[in-house]
Amino acid sequence: MAVDPPAPSAAGAPQPAPEPVAFDITVKVRRFDPDVSDQHYWQDFTVSVFATDRILDALHKIKWEQDGSLTFRRSCGHGICGSDAMRINGKNRLACKTLVKDLNTKKPITVEAIKGLTVKKDLVVDMEPFMAAYRKIKPFLITHSPEPTRERLQDAEDRARFDDTTKCILCAACTTSCPVFWTDEQYFGPAAIVNAHRFIFDSRDEGGPERLQILNQAEGAWRCRTTFNCTDACPRGIQVTEAIQQVKRAMMFGIDDAT
Ligand code: SF4
Ligand code: FES
Repeated sequence: MAVDPPAPSAAGAPQPAPEPVAFDITVKVRRFDPDVSDQHYWQDFTVSVFATDRILDALHKIKWEQDGSLTFRRSCGHGICGSDAMRINGKNRLACKTLVKDLNTKKPITVEAIKGLTVKKDLVVDMEPFMAAYRKIKPFLITHSPEPTRERLQDAEDRARFDDTTKCILCAACTTSCPVFWTDEQYFGPAAIVNAHRFIFDSRDEGGPERLQILNQAEGAWRCRTTFNCTDACPRGIQVTEAIQQVKRAMMFGIDDAT
């Protein structure tokens, strides 16, 4: 398709794009260092940013230019690894996917650790309870029947049943936005159920009944109160609550009749 050239100015020359302008924002970070004190406290940092910077960029500037002790996790910087979930202005988000221009910069931007997991330092939490729940639902393909002589085939319709839940990056934004998890760390939490869903509804997998039995326990899927916090928090846009509902229906009516 033909693309129109930039509109000419009155003099006929194309207009150059305006230069981006840096401005100051206040980032208010909830700090915690168990080697210094058992108290959490808020600390303000003034940071020069561009509107298109990410909150992750602002945190880097603080760490590299103002206070090297600021502690947070990040790896890919592009919404893939799931390591930088944090509460930004009170909502669970990935710092690398949150742009300054999408927040109200007239007020301080608050940044704190995700809730419901023990804070180790500043924005870093102990992920072990979250990972333990993930391991419990057996997040791998289980088969009992004799191995086929060729690859296990699957048609597009069967693939579509669990397509949404394959997108999970294990960031924990859903589980740590869940009020049930806040009060009971034993609850499997949305992320574990999402990852169980990914295998339960995979036509090549034969471990669905085992997983449903695991999630049928007191701390399993029935603890979900469908508050939708998890769906709102998911940076991958996964329909988390719907996946949990499908797992519940599979327990009641069987895997084939649940979606
Ligand atoms: S379901 Fe979404 S919010 Fe939950 S862990 Fe996976 S990617 Fe993160
Ligand atoms: S740094 Fe990897 S998801 Fe944000």
